[in-house]
Amino acid sequence: MTPEVILFPDSHRLADYLVKTWIHLANEVIGEHGRFSSAFPGGRSPVEFYNLLSSWPDFNLWSKVHIFQTDERFVDEHHPDNNFRLIKDNLLRHIPIPMENVFPVPSHVETVGMAAEEYKNTLVRFFTLDRNHLPIIDFVLLGLGEDGHTASLFPGVDGINDPYRLTMPVSINHLKHDRISMTLSVINNARNVMFLVTGAQKAEAVREVLERGGDYPAAQVRPRQGKLTFLLDAQAAQLLEHKERYLTQAQPLSINPE
Ligand code: 6PG
Repeated sequence: MTPEVILFPDSHRLADYLVKTWIHLANEVIGEHGRFSSAFPGGRSPVEFYNLLSSWPDFNLWSKVHIFQTDERFVDEHHPDNNFRLIKDNLLRHIPIPMENVFPVPSHVETVGMAAEEYKNTLVRFFTLDRNHLPIIDFVLLGLGEDGHTASLFPGVDGINDPYRLTMPVSINHLKHDRISMTLSVINNARNVMFLVTGAQKAEAVREVLERGGDYPAAQVRPRQGKLTFLLDAQAAQLLEHKERYLTQAQPLSINPE
C-alpha cells in the first residue's frame, strides 16, 4: 500500500494539521465505536503536537480517549529521558483525561523483560485479546530516527516482526537505556499510522524510507489494512526526489475538528 505523504512549510503548520486531524478522527471513531485508542512516542518531534493538543479542553472527548505508548526507555518515571514523563508534562497534565484511560509502560519492575511482559498484558487486557491475536489500535503516532528506527525498533534488532509478539525488550550497547517497544506486528495492525518527521537531520532517512526502498525498521511499517501517512516539514523533505507525488498542505487545515 502506498503511504500518503503530506509536506508542510514548517513544524507549526504540521502540528496544527495533526491536532485537527487527530481530533476529527477521535470524534469519528468514538461516534462509531464509543472509544478511541491512541499510541504516542517520545522524542523531540511530537512535543509541539502534544502542547497544541493539550489546549483541547473537551472532557467529553478525553473521557473516551485511551492513551498508550509506542515505546519507552527503561528508566524511572521521573527520569528526564522517560517518554511517559514527556507525554505527561506536555499533554496529560493539561487535559481532563481520566487516569484509568492512560496506560504507561511500567518502570517500577526489576527487568526490561518484565516491563515488556507487563505491557503486553496491559494490551491483552484492554483489547481483550485471545492467544495469538493482535490489538487493533485506532491511531499510532511514530517518529523517525536518523538510523531509520521507529518506536524503539532499531536496525539489526531481531524479532521486531514476530507475528504474534505484542511488545519486546530492546537492549543495544550504543543505546543509553534499555527500551520497551510495541512490535511492528502491533503497529502494522493499527487502523491509522502517522509518522511525524521534522528537521534536516532526518532528510536522509526520509528519502531512504520513502524513495529508496530501504529495509529500515521504519520502512517496514506497512499497515495491513490501516492507513499510513507521513507528515513532513520542508527540512525533513528536502532530499526527496519525487515531491510531485506528494500533497502539500501549505494552508492551515480548515476542517472543524468536532
Ligand atoms: C524515543 C522515540 C523514538 C523517536 C525517534 C525520533 O523513545 O526516542 O520513541 O522512536 O520517535 O528517535 O526522535 P526525535 O523525535 O527526538 O527526533
